[in-house]
Amino acid sequence: MSTHSYTVTLIPGDGIGPEVTEAAERVVAAAGVKIDWERVEAGAEVIAKHGTPVPDSVLNSVRRNRVALKGPITTPVGQGFQSANVTLRKALDLYACVRPVKSIPGLPTRFEDVNLVVVRENTEGLYAGLEHRVAPGIVESLKVVTEHACLRIARFAFELAERQGRDKVTAIHKANIMKLTDGLFLECARKVARGYPEIAYDELIVDNCAMQLVKDPSRFEVLLLDNLYGDIVSDLCAGLVGGLGVVPGSNVGDDCALFEAVHGSAPDIAGKRLANPSAVILSAAEMLRHLGEDGAAHAIVRAVHATLTDPMTRTADLGGTATLDRMTDAIIGHLE
Ligand code: NAI
Repeated sequence: MSTHSYTVTLIPGDGIGPEVTEAAERVVAAAGVKIDWERVEAGAEVIAKHGTPVPDSVLNSVRRNRVALKGPITTPVGQGFQSANVTLRKALDLYACVRPVKSIPGLPTRFEDVNLVVVRENTEGLYAGLEHRVAPGIVESLKVVTEHACLRIARFAFELAERQGRDKVTAIHKANIMKLTDGLFLECARKVARGYPEIAYDELIVDNCAMQLVKDPSRFEVLLLDNLYGDIVSDLCAGLVGGLGVVPGSNVGDDCALFEAVHGSAPDIAGKRLANPSAVILSAAEMLRHLGEDGAAHAIVRAVHATLTDPMTRTADLGGTATLDRMTDAIIGHLE
C-alpha cells in the first residue's frame, strides 16, 4: 500500500468511456494507490453549456495536475465540431502518443511474440484537420509538417528505445509520393538516428509496413510514425494481440501526460456493460508507472493478464461471455 496520495484529472468521456474509466478507478483503488480524482467533462455533452467540447476548466485541470486518465470521446463523422481528442493533444502539446503492443501470454491470437511500441506524432500532419472548401465540389486538406515536431518525436522514439533496451527504430512514411512532407519527416528521423549509433534504424513505406505487420510483427521494435499513419497502424497493431480491448496508450508532452486506451467510444456496445475494460485499466497502470508507483502498476498488469488467460472471465470481444463488471471483479480478485 502506497502512502503517497495523488490528484489526477479524470475525463470519463462518452459511449463506453464512463463504464471503463469507472472500472479503472476501482482497480487502482484495489491496488492500494490513493488517488483524488478530479472529474471534468469534455465532448458533445458540454458544448451547449460551454460552447466548446473542451472547456478551459478541463485544460486547466490537466495543466494543474500534470496527469490525466481519459475515456474515449465521440467525434461526429463528416460534420460537426473538431475532435475533442485532437484539441486536447494540441492545446496541451501532448506531442508523443505511445502505444505498447505486446502479446498476452495465455490469450490465443494469431501471433505469440509481438512486442513493439508505436510512437506517433500527435500534433500536426493531415490529422490536424486543417480543411476548407475551395469552391463548390472542391475541398482541400492541409498537411503541415514542421522540422521542430519531426525532430522532437524522432528524439522521443530513440530515447524510448534506449530506455527500454530496444535495438531498432523503424520510421514509417510515404515519401515516395509525399516527397516534401514525409521527406522532411524522414530527414529528421535520419538526423536523430545518427546520434544513436547503438540503435539500428530503418525505414518502410506505410503500405508495405501494413503488410509486413500482419505477416511477421516480430521483426518490429519501435515504430515511428506521423499522426495519421500512427492512428491507423495503432489499430492494426492492436488487432495482432487481441484487439482494441487490450491495448493501452499515453499522450505525453514536456509538462503533462494523458493516459487513454487506443479504442474509441464503441457506440455499438455503449451502456450495455459489455465493453472490455482492460485497455483503460492497463492505461491506468501506465499512469501509475509514470507516477513512480511501479509496484502497483506491475500488480495490475499481472492481474489483467491472469484474467485474460481464463476464458470464463473474458468479455465478448475476446470470444467470452463475461460482462465488464465480471471482468473487473476478476481483475480485483487477482490483486488480492
Ligand atoms: P471504436 O474503437 O470505438 O470501435 C471499433 C470496434 O471495436 C467496435 O466494434 C467496438 O465495439 C469495438 N471496441 C472498441 N473498444 C472496445 C472495448 N473496450 N471492448 C470491446 N469492444 C471494443 O472505433 P469507431 O467505431 O471507429 O469509433 C467510435 C467513436 O470513437 C468515433 O466517434 C471516434 O471518433 C471515436 N474515437 C475516439 C477515440 C478517443 O477518444 N481516443 C479514439 C478512437 C475513436
